[in-house]
Amino acid sequence: MLEINLSGLKLKSPLILASGILGVSFSSMKRVIDAGAGAITTKSIGPNSRKGYKNPSIIEIYSGTFINAVGLGNPGIDNFLSEINEIKKYKFPLIVSVFGATNKEYLDVALKAEEAGANAIEINISCPHAEVASIGIDKDLTFEIVKFLKKKLNIPLFVKLNPNVTNLNEIALAAEKGGADAVVAINTLTAMAIDVNTKRPILSHGSGGLSGKAIHPIAIKKVYDLYKILKIPIIGCGGIDSWQDVVEFFLVGASAVQIGTALYLGVDLITEINEGMVKYLKSNDYKSINDIKGLTHQFKTQEVPDFD
Ligand SMILES: Cc1cc2nc3c(=O)[nH]c(=O)nc-3n(C[C@H](O)[C@H](O)[C@H](O)COP(=O)(O)O)c2cc1C
Repeated sequence: MLEINLSGLKLKSPLILASGILGVSFSSMKRVIDAGAGAITTKSIGPNSRKGYKNPSIIEIYSGTFINAVGLGNPGIDNFLSEINEIKKYKFPLIVSVFGATNKEYLDVALKAEEAGANAIEINISCPHAEVASIGIDKDLTFEIVKFLKKKLNIPLFVKLNPNVTNLNEIALAAEKGGADAVVAINTLTAMAIDVNTKRPILSHGSGGLSGKAIHPIAIKKVYDLYKILKIPIIGCGGIDSWQDVVEFFLVGASAVQIGTALYLGVDLITEINEGMVKYLKSNDYKSINDIKGLTHQFKTQEVPDFD
């Protein structure tokens, strides 16, 4: 019922672990698998190990809503290969998120991940608090990197979109034109919080990325708009903490979803969401989660208000 085929990857649930949450060590990834996720996305991995920003690097600004600036801290691809090897023993769909300073660096990291057994590559061109953001805000740079990587990669390529742009549609279309197999919408929204007593920004980096509950309606609107113009699948991401949130993403056109922030509540949430979706599908007489994809688009929304 929950099985999907995402660009050739067979997933037993459409619920995928989002990048940056529990995706660094083999043991945390294994817990997410055991809870019932359909695939894992790793933390974004670069060519070299990198420390990331000092604490405080993440704060809960409202209940279930966070601002983080972890600064792409990661062990570097060569040190990460052993974690990939371990997790691949479980024959589980693994998406490796990669970043680099140049297109060539992205390629080197992606090729090493592919060779180690990754089933797909996700490119992070969208982190709002690191230098890679510059690609994801430019349609030509997006097109070029996707085309460049697609020439060399043999596994599907997903592009994680940066929502901090005026026109997300044109960036997504550039990714599709370059040959992307799917887009992920969305990464965090650029945000900031100030301590009124010290008058300083709370995060060590100053600003960061907003994630969790507050961004869910924003992500829904982005996926709704993207579904109207894209042919490739959209992976919805942002503020999922219930099965209703996943259903909502599917109704506006997502083919799969990613969950991140809400897992601070524990990985059992994944099991609960899967169970909730199955109940919803059964009680509405659907055979598959795919049957509800895009259904919201059959409703015409009011364009201009009526006169009195
Ligand atoms: C602490 C933290 C670290 C993150 N690290 C990454 C990352 O390394 N690469 C990436 O593409 N997205 C990263 N993200 C963004 C998430 O993958 C996701 O796009 C975003 O948080 C929205 O989903 P959510 O509301 O379910 O968390 C990170 C998010 C958080 C909260």
